[in-house]
Amino acid sequence: MSSPVVILGVFVADTSYRADRMPKLGETILGQGFALGPGGKGSNQAVAAACAGADARILTRLGRDTFAAIARDVWAKAGVRDHALEQPEGYTGAAFIFLEAETGQNAIIVSPGVAEDLSAQDVEAWGSVIDTAGVVMTQLEQPMPAAQAFLARGRAAGAVTILNPAPAASLPDGMLAMCDYVTPNESEAEGLTGISVQTVDDARRAADALIEQGAGAAIITLGEKGALLHGPDQSVHVPILKAGPVCETTGAGDALNGAFAAALAEGLSPVDALRFGVAAACISVTRPGAAASMPTREEIRAHLNA
Ligand code: RIB
Ligand code: NA
Repeated sequence: MSSPVVILGVFVADTSYRADRMPKLGETILGQGFALGPGGKGSNQAVAAACAGADARILTRLGRDTFAAIARDVWAKAGVRDHALEQPEGYTGAAFIFLEAETGQNAIIVSPGVAEDLSAQDVEAWGSVIDTAGVVMTQLEQPMPAAQAFLARGRAAGAVTILNPAPAASLPDGMLAMCDYVTPNESEAEGLTGISVQTVDDARRAADALIEQGAGAAIITLGEKGALLHGPDQSVHVPILKAGPVCETTGAGDALNGAFAAALAEGLSPVDALRFGVAAACISVTRPGAAASMPTREEIRAHLNA
């Protein structure tokens, strides 16, 4: 039986606009489609973990509004248990997502709304939930003190701790020393280490620098090139396994992180867990939306065996 995956993070409503290009300042252009759906890195990761078979819990703040209803609906459908604090006087956040029509690549502005109030005190109040975790995971959409308190509590509880350092931010001293895994993409890895990451070898050097800064191991996601797991006793590159034409890449990193955490909680080795995570990401990019595109455990298994 797998142990709970407890995730601190943000839910927002993703409002995505498909267009040939970004408008310039002062310009209006016609788009080719609009969608409203569940997003936010923490929520996406919790949905990905639950779909991948985990007992996933989300710790966050919501308003009492239409977007909060979207959150509760997606969590209920995916089987995410929510411990969200409801803040009636604020609003649940949203993200503006530009989708480049030809490539499915995106550019995002995320406004976390009431999740900006997530604090170390909130984390304290959720202590008994965190204490049950086999794996804890967070990102950087909520304030840093909440993320720090969460990783510290997770580590004290004996959980495996994962930081997905997204969106990019500089980390306070000692933050990486609380992480068993840090999981940046290429540009986040460069921001944290000063090493430009273009190749798998660059990723190895950046991972060494992250370990030097205190991380137990690094997983560097490399887009089309897959991902690298690099730790003191192993360094394994996992390539992608295409699952079809790319539709939308929003949330692909979250698919990888959520499925990786689910697999670790189930007792898979880190390399097998990363293979599972990469397969989840490969399926998610063939579908529209972020949380809406997370594959089930059966779909991931079938893709790995294909
Ligand atoms: O990681 C993808 C997510 O980042 C989107 O769902 C968007 O909400 C932003 O938070
Ligand atoms: Na997708």
